[in-house]
Amino acid sequence: MEKERVDFLIIGGGAAGLRAAIELAPHGSVLVLTKDIATESATGYAQGGIAVALSDEDRVGIHYEDTLRAGDGLCNEEAVKILVEEGPERIKELISWGAEFDREGTKLAFGLEAAHTKKRVLHAHGDATGRELVRTLLNKVRSHPSVRRLPFTTVTELIVSDGACHGAFVLSKRKLMAIFARATVLATGGGGQVYSITTNPQVATSDGMAIAYRAGAELVDMEFVQFHPTALYSPAAPHFLLSEAMRGEGGRLLNINMEPFMQRYHPDRGLAPRDVVSRGIVSEMVRTNAKHVYLDMTHLDSGGVRSRFPKIYETCLQFGVDITAEPIPVCPAAHYIMGGVKTGTDGATSISGLYAAGEVACTGIHGANRLASNSLLEGLVYGARAGTSALSSPVEPVGEAAPPGPAHTIPAHDEIRGGLRGLMWDKVGIIRCAESLNEALDALSEWDYILDKAFLTRRELELKNMLQVAGLITRAALAREESVGAHYRSDRPQRGEHWKVHRVFSLGGVREKKGLF
Ligand code: FAD
Ligand code: SIN
Repeated sequence: MEKERVDFLIIGGGAAGLRAAIELAPHGSVLVLTKDIATESATGYAQGGIAVALSDEDRVGIHYEDTLRAGDGLCNEEAVKILVEEGPERIKELISWGAEFDREGTKLAFGLEAAHTKKRVLHAHGDATGRELVRTLLNKVRSHPSVRRLPFTTVTELIVSDGACHGAFVLSKRKLMAIFARATVLATGGGGQVYSITTNPQVATSDGMAIAYRAGAELVDMEFVQFHPTALYSPAAPHFLLSEAMRGEGGRLLNINMEPFMQRYHPDRGLAPRDVVSRGIVSEMVRTNAKHVYLDMTHLDSGGVRSRFPKIYETCLQFGVDITAEPIPVCPAAHYIMGGVKTGTDGATSISGLYAAGEVACTGIHGANRLASNSLLEGLVYGARAGTSALSSPVEPVGEAAPPGPAHTIPAHDEIRGGLRGLMWDKVGIIRCAESLNEALDALSEWDYILDKAFLTRRELELKNMLQVAGLITRAALAREESVGAHYRSDRPQRGEHWKVHRVFSLGGVREKKGLF
């Protein structure tokens, strides 16, 4: 097996991974791995923008309060404080590196999104904020000769000995390789692909959460999965995201009889927190026996809609929908996992030498429900912090590691993948109950034989990782016997008395914690 040694290994090239790389670049050799091409990440697809308290009418304290309110009582307040306080500095720095956010005259333009009490969402090229972020961060990374990027390289497992992480085994051009590092930063993003209906790109198969769990790390809050209210509903189309900013700009939700309905579910209607809007839509779909509702922009100035949402306009047009002339069929879709690898506010995980940042991590910023457009900011703030912490990794280098066992294949791969994703949508989706969750656990156990096997193709590794994380989401959802934030149990719709706990999962079992840290 080929071996390589670097000072710092970064797994993932989205906002969190690239920002960590920039922090580490002056201090040693840095290798950034991505499973696909450099730009293929959730970050690259981000639309609405980046929430940051930089407008004249805003304050970090208000951003803090809005984030806590959306998190429904389960945020780590210290982590939120850091996010909102360090956010403005990270954004100013990004602008100094060349990021071009949209402006009104010479001033930055701020959009409104659900559950924000102020207009505070910066955007670029209307609705292509993620693309601009990746462009800027990649340019900055390229300016550091100490940073090397390796695309089409899939991490299979972490190299762990004596409770410390020494790097990772990777699959590159179908060959297994060991990469040793003084510190490893996990920035692999989320796992929306675990669900059959998702806004997430193909790379979002929860790899980082699964490999960290198998390496012995702690994961927390896995029951909290956010479902975005508005993905394009069209049998021929992927579930393309229709940004919340569209409702922020005046878009209305209508049922299939063209009636507004959100007033029945929340006084803030379409701008209520995401979980409320998603459940409102599902209830309305059931009530009207329909597979979708509509997002209507037709009452707004059509030129304004086209210039504010050019990418959405073009994409919907490709699927036969002119968003300026007809209501858009939409349905909710799995979008973001609030839980993840448990880290402190310094990005350190429970494994020495292993750090995590971005969607793969859980610092507790998002609590039970993420405030819209807080995750790009999280990637920047906590990517930089994880980079800084990785500099003082206590890990002593090792040069050898036992490779994973012999490679297997999964003959009915596509069938299992489809079955898993449909199962999670049907039984562990927007509305769950003990019965559906137990059914899911039973069905998942049929595939347990895959979890302890080694594989040498990306697709098979992804399936193993999705099965691992699906099991954790389901177990966590069953254990939380109340409804909080994005976790809604139809058999336990109330909050009850003991809701203020977090469940921490590791190979050793589950433990409950009152506060996160
Ligand atoms: P990602 O950007 O997802 O990057 C993950 C990286 O890890 C990729 O490079 C991938 O190749 C790599 N990777 C994964 N597994 C492996 C492996 N096994 N081996 C090697 N590499 C691996 N948030 C906002 O704040 N504002 C928005 O407007 C917004 N819009 C969104 C729109 C869409 C369509 C989606 C899906 C999400 C949106 N979000 C938004 C959420 C936000 O984009 C993500 O939470 C955030 O970008 C995650 O960043 P990250 O750096 O943690 O991971
Ligand atoms: C959106 O544009 O609606 C996505 C924003 C987010 O997920 O934070």
